[in-house]
Amino acid sequence: MAAAEQGVDAARKEEEEEEEQVVNPWEVSAGKGGIDYDKLVDQFGCQRIDDALVGRIARLTGRPPHCFLRRGLFFAHRDLNELLDLYEKGEKFYLYTGRGPSSEALHLGHLIPFMFTKYLQEAFKVPLVIQLTDDEKFLWKNLTIQESKRLARENAKDIIACGFDIERTFIFSDFSFVGGAFYENMMQVARCVTMNKAIGIFGFNLEDHIGKVSFPPVQAVPSFPSSFPHLFAGKDQLRCLIPCAVDQDPYFRMTRDVAPRIGYQKPSLIESRFFPALQGENTKMSASDANSAIYVTDSAKEIKTKVNKYAFSGGQDSIELHRKLGANLDVDVPIKYLNFFLEDDDELAHIKKEYKEGRMLTGEVKQRLIAVLSEIVARHQRARSQVTEEMVDAFMAVRPLPNMFG
Ligand code: TRP
Repeated sequence: MAAAEQGVDAARKEEEEEEEQVVNPWEVSAGKGGIDYDKLVDQFGCQRIDDALVGRIARLTGRPPHCFLRRGLFFAHRDLNELLDLYEKGEKFYLYTGRGPSSEALHLGHLIPFMFTKYLQEAFKVPLVIQLTDDEKFLWKNLTIQESKRLARENAKDIIACGFDIERTFIFSDFSFVGGAFYENMMQVARCVTMNKAIGIFGFNLEDHIGKVSFPPVQAVPSFPSSFPHLFAGKDQLRCLIPCAVDQDPYFRMTRDVAPRIGYQKPSLIESRFFPALQGENTKMSASDANSAIYVTDSAKEIKTKVNKYAFSGGQDSIELHRKLGANLDVDVPIKYLNFFLEDDDELAHIKKEYKEGRMLTGEVKQRLIAVLSEIVARHQRARSQVTEEMVDAFMAVRPLPNMFG
């Protein structure tokens, strides 16, 4: 093939791949090689998290950076340096994250932003608001309002089980909390976003019901301190940092676009990769396919079966070949999971090296993973069983948080 033709071919191929990768709050589907995070950063216009920024966070907090940061799992941000400049000068901020309660049980992927947020809350000693978007799931899933609200409360227990400090944390459900100053902010945002813009950002079409179109302001306004007068009265310029998975970026692109026009600060963001399905990197775990994910309700036996049976292996087909060629770590799911959940850097590096060079077999790596996951899940189950209805009420009570910056 002539060189010029090859060039055309390559361009076409790239175009096709570009078409294949879809990442928005409702759909995550990758091209053949898995999600291209570099491309996402460019497409979305966020910034990469580099070693200097990780080092800066370590210095400012006086503790080692969380392994999600060290290992690039939280990989992108918006205006984090600016927020840290202010923090360095003694100006605090608050954290905002959330969950759409679409299923009874959370899977491990759901825990990641919460585990990370808990670290941020402790490390920076700042307050946190957690939004449960029961309204969103009512609009998008086939759920009744009653059922969405029930799921929000059930999910709140899993969130509380992650260990948040009740003195610094406010959890709210949209159906219960929206009103007052929060609603006023929603209307301010709504008036700034044209239909054209909403279609551009979220991909709505004219067959979508108008509930969907009206939802984005609900997820936008927890970024503004004035939405929470019981927490931040008189602190209208307080900065906000949002830890989330990168699929939520469209909401906050819209929020940041609108903020200065209504006299508010833009929220900063810190964004994670997706936690892959057991079957591989091509998509994120799905709450609707039980065999694609490890749930926080799984027994040790279920974890063992799922990992052994479904976790996609980068090992070779026969032992002889594996000893000779070693594993392909780029596609190996057990390694990806260990990357998230095995905290010991030295052990992780050792396993990677041995596996890659064929001295360690898939079965052995899976066995280590089963132990790591079982321990995390068992710990979560113990913590969740301690969460009472009264504790849920306490976290969700509309109240001032005494000493939240202390
Ligand atoms: N839309 C998110 C979901 O479906 C829930 C959510 C609301 C959220 N506010 C957020 C997630 C802020 C991250 C940060 O899970």
